[in-house]
Amino acid sequence: MNYKKTDADDLRFFQSAIGEAFVYTDPAALEKYSKDETDGCSFAPEAVLKPRTTQEISTILKYCHEKHIPVSPRAAGTGLSANSLCVLGGIMLSIERMNSILQIDERSLQVTTEPGVITEALQNTLQEKGLFYPVDPSSRGSSFIGGNVACNSGGPRAVKYGVVKDFVLNLEVVLPTGEIMWTGANTLKNSTGYNFTQLFVGSEGTLGIVTKIVLKLLPYPRHNNIMLAPFKSMEDAGAAVSAVFRAGIVPSCIEFMERDAITYVMNFLGDVTVPLADDTQATLLIEVDGNDLELIQKDCEKIYEVLSTFDVGEILFADSDAQKTDLWRMRRNIAYAVKKTNVTVEEDTVVPRADLPELLQHIKAVGKKYNFRSVCYGHAGDGNVHVRILKDELSDDYWKNEVPKGIREIFEKVVELKGTISGEHGIGWFQIPYMDIKFSKEQIALMRGIKKVFDPHHILNPGKIFATE
Ligand code: LAC
Ligand code: ZN
Repeated sequence: MNYKKTDADDLRFFQSAIGEAFVYTDPAALEKYSKDETDGCSFAPEAVLKPRTTQEISTILKYCHEKHIPVSPRAAGTGLSANSLCVLGGIMLSIERMNSILQIDERSLQVTTEPGVITEALQNTLQEKGLFYPVDPSSRGSSFIGGNVACNSGGPRAVKYGVVKDFVLNLEVVLPTGEIMWTGANTLKNSTGYNFTQLFVGSEGTLGIVTKIVLKLLPYPRHNNIMLAPFKSMEDAGAAVSAVFRAGIVPSCIEFMERDAITYVMNFLGDVTVPLADDTQATLLIEVDGNDLELIQKDCEKIYEVLSTFDVGEILFADSDAQKTDLWRMRRNIAYAVKKTNVTVEEDTVVPRADLPELLQHIKAVGKKYNFRSVCYGHAGDGNVHVRILKDELSDDYWKNEVPKGIREIFEKVVELKGTISGEHGIGWFQIPYMDIKFSKEQIALMRGIKKVFDPHHILNPGKIFATE
């Protein structure tokens, strides 16, 4: 693909389109926007643009389409697969100024929002009105709803409520050619032609830039109970997860944290501790929510009975809101905590729930074979395990060339178990080398074909999901 480098004329055009103040070429801006949360990745954009309106985005894309300038859309930059970085140069288009909640429809339980709203801020605003948008990626305190849509994010509550795709009703998008369109309808049902909305959800900004989002909402559940259950083996913790569902209970969260994840995060936070017996290998953090406290308590008792059929230690029941908050702070900070201490890389495996024990066993066996440590944690109820691999004392060469072979073996197992190589972090640029494990050449060619229909000049977030030809 032959792309044009941004020159002074292009910059003048961008300045006239969105205002001089919102076109950045200074080294500090280029450095800041060269990274996201992906370990060890850095690609400086040629310029950073911060448009405010759909129309401005349309003007920029139309121009870049004509000139063959790559455009990488960026939300909050919390991606874990280099989803938004300018891997093939060009401009970065940040949606951070598009940060208004446009309309809360309390009659139909919907919200229309711009993409640059911080997910947790959106959730808090809705909660004040008794409304619930449950999707809660760990990054929700900083990630934008637009980025969540682009990656089809999940998070702990997905196990009961679903992921982003289950809440997006309709999207306004700007296509790479500059055309503006709505993808669907503000309805709970839609059986009208191809499902554009779901094609855009999870397409990582490669097909269009999302400029408005309509989400379905729920009434806010009034109560929740939380417990932390320690296990002597990871496999037992994994097996207990599907047993809970088989007993007829759907917890709102059932999260897995192996022992090291807890030790790292306790050290990192400094002000949260949970009892950790010497023989605890893993824990499950389980939350049950609803409107009827008595029913919730009954469910918790039943969960307790199920867990007791495994080799479980003393179960901790959170007895205050402060303790609940602390347990969630622990869980949500694991990635940051481990990353802080070491060079790391994170993989996002997902398998059918009942195969969790086999997956966990395999991850550790591969670690042994390739001589690396890993910290496993994640959304056990969804069969979704994050594997953060630690470099420790491994040489740069071994880290670069041998460890990926181990990752490949983990992903091969995942696919053999009928799972996939990312549950919620996306493929971005970082995971492309493993796409062949999940998809055949023909399937990738189909994806390229779809891309070409929307983006004939291949300018929008190029070099993501599959390699650019
Ligand atoms: C989490 C992110 C890394 O679950 O997905 O903490
Ligand atoms: Zn996660």
